[in-house]
Amino acid sequence: MFTACELGVFDLLLESEEPLSSAAIVQRVGSSADGMERLLSACVGMKLLEAELKNDEAFYRNTELSSLYLTKSSPKSLHHMMIYYSQTLYLCWHFLTDAVREGKNQFKRAFGVSSKNIFEDLYRSEEEMIKFMHLMNSVWTLCSRDVIKLFDLSPFTTVCDLGGCSGALAKECISIYPESMVTIYDLPKVVQTAKKHFISTDEHRISFQEGDFFEDSIPEADLYILARILHDWTEKKCLQLLEKVYKACKPGGAVLLVEVLLNEDKSGPLSSQLYSLNMLVQTEGRERTPAEYCKLLTAVGFKEIQVRTTGKIYDVILGRK
Ligand SMILES: C[S@@+](CC[C@H](N)C(=O)[O-])C[C@H]1O[C@@H](n2cnc3c(N)ncnc32)[C@H](O)[C@@H]1O
Repeated sequence: MFTACELGVFDLLLESEEPLSSAAIVQRVGSSADGMERLLSACVGMKLLEAELKNDEAFYRNTELSSLYLTKSSPKSLHHMMIYYSQTLYLCWHFLTDAVREGKNQFKRAFGVSSKNIFEDLYRSEEEMIKFMHLMNSVWTLCSRDVIKLFDLSPFTTVCDLGGCSGALAKECISIYPESMVTIYDLPKVVQTAKKHFISTDEHRISFQEGDFFEDSIPEADLYILARILHDWTEKKCLQLLEKVYKACKPGGAVLLVEVLLNEDKSGPLSSQLYSLNMLVQTEGRERTPAEYCKLLTAVGFKEIQVRTTGKIYDVILGRK
């Protein structure tokens, strides 16, 4: 699937008016004939392509699934996610055994980098940072509305999206809540790239603040969104960040955590268990149970904590000040 995405097979078949033979795909993609034939056949096995035989020759077309999720131009495209998984994550997963033995991420083995800050490793080049931002943006094409609508956030007019990255949730927030004003807070180079590639600076209800949320001050707000932030960090760092959020939060305000949740007994869901291993190979963090997040929130003072599930990959926890 990753290779077919990287080679643009699904894009080519989407653009083509008719099903294409392996030879035609080889010619357009510039691959070996034998390699492509085997790849196409495996994609048929995975139900990503359909093959039709004409005079003993197979002609390929996308399935609905691959057209919807694996082509670049689809509004629900996960193409960027596939590219990141293929070129970056897959390499970290290759060292899962070492990660389990050592209990730490595998950037050193996979990419030869190992700084004190995981985001320096993740953003080891501008190209890698942009790829990461596209990865972050990708999944929200499927479920940003679910997470932002699950609680009524209309009472919170000033919102700070901490580690807001590409701004996908900020955009969803202002589209659902007409009164809301969102500040995207992120590392300076991420904010600059978000402005350049992801968000129109004409959008007057979205503003930006550059900073390091561990080192620098964060803006005062009614609501802090922390989407996929705490799962990057150890308990100690989560508490450090949440304490800062609690102090900056206006009275009556709240924090909204958006995370993959494990069952309380950690018996599942399988996707969350695998995501937790994914956090092991590339971060300092882990996926957690609702009770573990509640404990972190109550430890810094948040109360009336509510957990709501979307039925999709990300769920939501709201804690009030
Ligand atoms: C896993 S991403 C989540 C992005 C976004 N919230 C989302 O769900 O799409 C973590 C984000 O935190 C930002 N980040 C990491 N360390 C940070 C720091 N010390 N200060 C500010 N932002 C930071 C990263 O640049 C990145 O945008």
